[in-house]
Amino acid sequence: MRVGIIGSGTMGSGIAQVAATAGCQVKLYDTNQAALDKAKDALEKILLRLIQKGRIDATEKARIQNQITYVDKLHDLADSNLTIEAIVENLDVKKQVFSELEGYVSSDCIIASNTSSLSIASIAAALNQPERCIGIHFFNPAPLMKLVEVIPAIQTSNEVLETAVQTITDWKKVVAVAKDTPGFIVNRVARPFYGESLRIYEEGMADFATIDWSLKTLGGFRMGPFELMDFIGNDVNYTVTETVFTAFYFDPRYKPAFTQKRFAEAGYLGRKSGRGYYDYSDNAIQPKPREDKLLAQQIFDRVLVMLINEAADALFLNIASAEDIDNAMTKGVNYPKGLLQWADDKGIGWCVKKMDELYAMYHEDRYRCSPLLRKMNQEQQTFF
Ligand code: NAI
Repeated sequence: MRVGIIGSGTMGSGIAQVAATAGCQVKLYDTNQAALDKAKDALEKILLRLIQKGRIDATEKARIQNQITYVDKLHDLADSNLTIEAIVENLDVKKQVFSELEGYVSSDCIIASNTSSLSIASIAAALNQPERCIGIHFFNPAPLMKLVEVIPAIQTSNEVLETAVQTITDWKKVVAVAKDTPGFIVNRVARPFYGESLRIYEEGMADFATIDWSLKTLGGFRMGPFELMDFIGNDVNYTVTETVFTAFYFDPRYKPAFTQKRFAEAGYLGRKSGRGYYDYSDNAIQPKPREDKLLAQQIFDRVLVMLINEAADALFLNIASAEDIDNAMTKGVNYPKGLLQWADDKGIGWCVKKMDELYAMYHEDRYRCSPLLRKMNQEQQTFF
């Protein structure tokens, strides 16, 4: 298969590596020569590291590198069977590139976007043949993260969906098919991990270190929410939250937190700026959590049930299948367990009770229990 990748930044270069490793002929295109040079150098370093780790040999390294050609004209992608775009997150720029690209490629070439936040329908609308457009959403870093969300737009043909799923599966990734709705699966279902933790902090229930400790100790999450927000960057994480909130017509469940906004405004972005919720300077003294088991349980239960409620509601609204929702969270963001499996293990009755307790306390729409959980509880069903 001949694959054209548009944009050789963080995502494009990673996707190129994945496709080349799987045996595809890849052309990596960027308007910026420096970005192309950087992608080439980065791949050299990554492959050398893989040799050191004993994962590949020199022959395999040369094979992967020979599969990738670096090009600076969109027209060079003319013979592609599949193109994946990973340029700036700007609808007008993407539309312009897609409409130019369509003039070069053959009529059966699939034209995909790696967008995180734009609707696939809006991008597909730029094409004369919108049925060939689809979302193929990788996670960062693309060569390491197992999950890829595949998002058909309402215009996308079944044939294009089937080919996309088969291709990405052949690339040894785990595919989750998602409806073309804000945040797809992961960026929607993961919101309470950050949002509810920020809310718990804002209410003064616990500090950052205690909340992180609770979720790591009791939940088995690799990073606590504040550590993770510092890792992602408070500017980036805040923007995703605000985009999802706006796209959902201001549903209070996705409401951003002032705390995070202020941290982003102050330039306390996290690891990349040396300071976020934690201080990353040399010799900084890290705050100690309050190791109170009862408090930790309350924090963990509250964040977990909000995550489960979000996952259940995504299933209720047919965003994806139960299997794909659970795979998305374990393979896309390394959750220790799928949220719907977690609901089964905790008991659907427990989930409904916890949500109703939160609602009784706050009377906010944010804490409404998903109708699916309520129905399943009445009918004594489980997800799996
Ligand atoms: P990036 O900024 O690292 O790379 C973008 C590249 O596109 C740059 O090299 C730039 O020179 C090039 N570019 C810009 N306009 C272009 C044009 N008109 N024609 C050709 N090349 C052009 O961006 P990144 O982070 O790789 O993101 C790319 C896309 O992937 C965005 O849509 C983003 O939402 C999405 N995405 C990003 C993730 C992340 O964690 N960074 C995760 C999943 C999706």
